Amino acid sequence: MPSSTTSSELIFYINGKKVVEKNADPEEMLLGYLRRKVGLTGTKYGCGGGGCGACTVMVSRYDPVEESIHHCAVTACLQPICSLYGAAVVTVEGIGSTRTKLHPVQERIAMAHGSQCGFCTPGMVMSMYTLLRNKPKPSMEDIREALAGNLCRCTGYRPIIDGFKTFCNKEQCCQNGEQRVKCCLENGFTHNLDDNISEELFRVEDFIPLDPTQDLIFPPELILMGKKPDGGQLCFQSERVKWISPALLTDLIQLKAQYTDFPMLVGNATLGPKMNLNGALYPVLLYAGRIPELRTITWSSSGVRVGAGCSLSALKDALQMKMEQLNPEESRIYQALLQTLQCLAAKQIRNMATIGGNIMSANPKYDLCSVLAAAQCTLQIISTAGVREVCLNEEFFTGFGKTALRPDEILLAIDIPHSKPWEFISAFRQAQRREFAFSIVNAGMKVVFRDESAVVESLDLYYGGVGPSLVKARNTCKELSGRLWDESLLAEGIRLLKEEISLSPAAPGGRVEYRKSLILSFFFKFYMQMLLELRQRGVAVTDVPPENLSALTQYRSELPQGHHTFQMVSDDQSSTDPVGRPRMHQAAFQQATGEAQYYDDIPAVKGELFLSMVTSTRAHAKITSIDASAALAMPGVVTFITAEHVPGQNRRLWFGNIEELFAEEEVICVGQIIGAIVAENRELAKRASCLVTVTYEDVLPVFFTIQEAIEHQSFFEPKRKLERGNVEEGFEQSDHILEGELYMGGQEHFYMETQGLIAVPGEEAGEMELYVATQHAAYTQEVVGLTLGVDSNKITCHVKRLGGAFGGKVMKIASLSAITATAAYRTGRAVRCVLERGDDMLITSGRHPFLGKYKVGYMDDGTILAADITYYSNGGCTLDESSFIMEKALLHMDNGYKIPHLRGRGFVCRTFLPSYTAFRGFGGPQGLTMIESVLHEVAAKCGLPAHQVREMNMYQSEDSYTHHKQLFSPEDMLRCWSECLEKSDYEQRLLAVQQFNSTNRWRKRGMSIVPMKFGIGFSKGFYNQGAALVNIYKDGSVLVSHGGTEMGQGINTKAIQIASRILNVPMSSIHVKETCTGNVPNAAPSAASFGTDAVGMAVKNACEKLMGRLEPIRKNNPKHTWQQLVVEAYCQKVSLSATGFFMGPHTGVDWERSEGTAYYYFTFGACCSEVEIDCLTGDHKNIRTDIVMDVGRSLNPALDIGQVEGGFVQGLGLYTIEELQFSPDGALRTRGPSDYKIPALIDIPRTLNTHLLTNAHNPHAIYSSKGIGEPTVFFGCTIFFAIKEAIAAARRERGLSESFNLSSPATAEKIRLACEDTCTTAAFSVTPEPCKPWAIDI
Ligand SMILES: Cc1cc2nc3c(=O)[nH]c(=O)nc-3n(C[C@H](O)[C@H](O)[C@H](O)COP(=O)(O)OP(=O)(O)OC[C@H]3O[C@@H](n4cnc5c(N)ncnc54)[C@H](O)[C@@H]3O)c2cc1C
Ligand code: FES
Ligand code: FES
Repeated sequence: MPSSTTSSELIFYINGKKVVEKNADPEEMLLGYLRRKVGLTGTKYGCGGGGCGACTVMVSRYDPVEESIHHCAVTACLQPICSLYGAAVVTVEGIGSTRTKLHPVQERIAMAHGSQCGFCTPGMVMSMYTLLRNKPKPSMEDIREALAGNLCRCTGYRPIIDGFKTFCNKEQCCQNGEQRVKCCLENGFTHNLDDNISEELFRVEDFIPLDPTQDLIFPPELILMGKKPDGGQLCFQSERVKWISPALLTDLIQLKAQYTDFPMLVGNATLGPKMNLNGALYPVLLYAGRIPELRTITWSSSGVRVGAGCSLSALKDALQMKMEQLNPEESRIYQALLQTLQCLAAKQIRNMATIGGNIMSANPKYDLCSVLAAAQCTLQIISTAGVREVCLNEEFFTGFGKTALRPDEILLAIDIPHSKPWEFISAFRQAQRREFAFSIVNAGMKVVFRDESAVVESLDLYYGGVGPSLVKARNTCKELSGRLWDESLLAEGIRLLKEEISLSPAAPGGRVEYRKSLILSFFFKFYMQMLLELRQRGVAVTDVPPENLSALTQYRSELPQGHHTFQMVSDDQSSTDPVGRPRMHQAAFQQATGEAQYYDDIPAVKGELFLSMVTSTRAHAKITSIDASAALAMPGVVTFITAEHVPGQNRRLWFGNIEELFAEEEVICVGQIIGAIVAENRELAKRASCLVTVTYEDVLPVFFTIQEAIEHQSFFEPKRKLERGNVEEGFEQSDHILEGELYMGGQEHFYMETQGLIAVPGEEAGEMELYVATQHAAYTQEVVGLTLGVDSNKITCHVKRLGGAFGGKVMKIASLSAITATAAYRTGRAVRCVLERGDDMLITSGRHPFLGKYKVGYMDDGTILAADITYYSNGGCTLDESSFIMEKALLHMDNGYKIPHLRGRGFVCRTFLPSYTAFRGFGGPQGLTMIESVLHEVAAKCGLPAHQVREMNMYQSEDSYTHHKQLFSPEDMLRCWSECLEKSDYEQRLLAVQQFNSTNRWRKRGMSIVPMKFGIGFSKGFYNQGAALVNIYKDGSVLVSHGGTEMGQGINTKAIQIASRILNVPMSSIHVKETCTGNVPNAAPSAASFGTDAVGMAVKNACEKLMGRLEPIRKNNPKHTWQQLVVEAYCQKVSLSATGFFMGPHTGVDWERSEGTAYYYFTFGACCSEVEIDCLTGDHKNIRTDIVMDVGRSLNPALDIGQVEGGFVQGLGLYTIEELQFSPDGALRTRGPSDYKIPALIDIPRTLNTHLLTNAHNPHAIYSSKGIGEPTVFFGCTIFFAIKEAIAAARRERGLSESFNLSSPATAEKIRLACEDTCTTAAFSVTPEPCKPWAIDI
């Protein structure tokens, strides 16, 4: 039994304040503790699994050995509070506030416009803050590394980087300054007065300097505690879990022998996600984070012994430091490890995760084991029986999650040897995203050559991700030993590997052909690398042709650069008038300090309950029984509600279409809501909801894919058609006919704030207040009213702000609100519902997958005479907004091209998947991409450059008509196009791309440029309206309320700018508090890029009314200040409150006649992108993107550029890395950031330039501006088409057909498999046995 004393008092600090927790709960993570126990809600929940960075905080500890303080960024969602003994936690609230003083990090992210919805901002701030605490003058690379684990769904990252890189030393920047190109630290600081163009979105001179004295000091008490560890054990016990944390290794060994069935927890990076997301319960947790022996790194002359409890960051730092001292021959293993560590997870995770945990998790997707095994590392294992040594190889791993360690044993340390002369080792990995993503396949490869020769002495090839545990290609290694390193060895190696490593077509994780190709591609790369090494050492081996060197280069991760231009306001505009100027987001400071309140930041209301949904696990089935008795028997569970408890209607109506709130008799998709558990707290509700058992009787048919829906003729009504000219005649007149198809996968909104609300029953008359994350408060109000059987005037929806929405918070949130309100109604208590990320992704669904089948008639010169496109979208199980989305696709199918004979037909497929819904672009991107694909294929067939074919087919006439007969002028589109060609230096760079491709066999580049015409406004005319209420108070301050919702796009900021111009008061005197159905009724959704157009006009209208009333008083009192004027008006009994209204255009389409003014006006643009692909792995790098965008006269260039770039980056994700996977039973597999990858910092083009078109006007919208929220998502397709060009170049070189299918997203898997070569053909050559695939294309 352990000998030392035991304490159950947890002592740590939060933001300089001591916390003594006597009842610490071992299951409680720091995130929940901060948010709910301490009330510090600045730290956000985004995923609960370490995958988004929203919860980043700084944890500091005193290290008695080094006698220094270590500051680490960690993810609070994975940090058990019990592990914090002796630590100091600093959250975003602890570094600065608007009430005291902002920290420079907070100020700079805000002033550089790096905070849109603001939900990721505190996490970004804390990552950067921690970096500065460790390194006050960081390099660009330091910043890149620090932010790699922080996802942002709004900004496109560029403005965040712009703000943060101002902390860098000039010498550490991009160094462009001397080359007559501007230095990265200078962007945004010039005015070109001649043509009134500015790049200045913020001024560095305005920033407060970094002042380390402002930082919280590390508590001296903790230094003392660190210096004098008492060796005592800490023990915490909750109802379900006991936490034992010994300080001595001897105690740990004893405890492990005693508690053999329970895990030892160190960094919690493997166990944490299991507990948080999968409900894993470990009744005893042995915490080993306090054992010094486990954290020691000891170097010897032959290698290094790394304590198993060393964090991956500590290991990385130690290797990096030692590399500088070692000779390169000795450090090859460390080099390979460093390369792996570089892109393993992210800084926050590496700070927590340990090397021992990485090995002992025995997860083949984890990267370190393949390299450590290839390096022949040894494991030191300790138990009460003593220490034993085990070789780390494939035999150590006995299955998924299993090792050869006995349950009483502990991994003490890992011995990593120095490399020896003529011993070479390499590491490889390929993931969905280059960084911050689990590898799909990883490999560690080592070869030892007989001294000074090319004869293989021994070979070790280890693969992870190709089976349930680590795999060694034993036979291949044996057969190749003793052979010469030459082409025959390569050919034999590929043959042997193919035979030796097999993967069943149903293998978990899918991507079987791709994984097989990677096995061979990595070997090919290794072969090339070693060939080069041998040649460099003067060993006579085959020459490495220079074009093959491209197989060797690694993509380097870089911080994106770029610049942006916009037109300044005219000289005669008053300096106090903010319209047209780049003003900061109204709440940016609050967002950067964590003060901004989102719905789940609202403190718990007295007696508040929590609701958790019970959802269907079958795709199409009759519900035969629901049994909630086990759940209801749990103490603290209050009730279980289903359809029968709904007091009003159990349905949500949308334009006459019905969707059940709770499934009553039958379920029609996995994830459909059947019932909801209501309990005293969220953990309980979550656990209880898992205990509800539902029995089903499966019903046929059941199908999920567009193809199957076509076979079943399963379509929603209405089917739509638009037609111009006579398509059949057009085909007859054409020189050629081409038929093809393009599939575009769906997309998850992945707003950083998941959906939810708080429903608070009123005291009287059936009133209900909802604090809800909705883009359409009026609709939520209406649905809740009907559900409760209460008039809308009793239901008030409040929306302060949304942590991102992108169309995903219009429809489903109304159902969630109705269900939560039902629970509140039934219990008479406030009820909170916050969807977990996985549930949010499962229940709320996202962008529709589309299949476009086309037939096109074209002439030899590329002129397109006729095109007939049939669009099929996968609508899922209910109609939702699918038919409107299909209409928008059809209305955009001409893009900027005058195709004389054009026909589009649209079918929304009804399948048994969760219902797809609105998503930024609303069908526009899919409609536009199909026609761009047609143009792309025609150009390829004609052998002409794609931009030339695009140009010749564009609308040219001043009075052009769309295919639905809407009059418009394409002038601004043509201007955007030619400016984009010019600014991107298109012609020259295209030549450079061709030159690059001719000299690089395994890397290829591609470029693509597209124009855009995008309709703004709702094609359902009645939605084109806006309303506002403006109140002036006696102190002169102004309160603006409007019907729009603030979700990061800056609608409030623009409303304030407009009010400021008309009332002539500074922006600081104007406030927008919230969106409230009680203030502005019947508002339209904030969508269709129309929010500012509608709301802006309404605010203007209200302000003009007020100014009209004040005007007589001003005339009589010309010297009065604003406030005196207001007081005078009050005394004269003039109303200081006015409503404003905007009646927008009566848009609409006559679908029978194929005509109508569908949109208020069009926004135009052009975008050019260049990419490079690695033909061997399918990895790609976004090199450069240039965007020229017409936003009319921008109301606020900073916000508009933010929307342009943010939309583009979301599109970049849509077309390249965001891939949803469904099981053959229709269950969504990708339910969090570990499986579903949105663009991270690493994915942004190295150069991203954005230009707002100058001298652009728009007579239709407020102050000549244009809507901009949605259009630029489509620009992501330039990356897709550039990738396609690059693949075509690779195929051309190999003599393969240039005509090939590439569906969107162009993932690494698809790129690799399209670049056919011996590795892919070998991977495909085995005929697959029939079986259920892992995932289906829906
Ligand atoms: C968001 C995220 C991204 C990630 N990305 C990657 C990636 O790209 N590549 C990659 O390789 N990994 C990745 N990981 C995995 C991560 O590296 C491992 O989870 C981590 O190294 C495990 O170490 P830990 O100390 O946190 O283990 P814990 O979670 O504390 O423990 C894990 C398991 O190991 C056992 N264990 C730990 N230490 C010992 C020991 N000394 N002796 C015996 N048993 C022990 C525990 O009992 C437990 O069963 C990622 C993790 C997260 C959360
Ligand atoms: S909430 Fe912690 S990383 Fe996502
Ligand atoms: S500002 Fe980054 S997620 Fe919204």
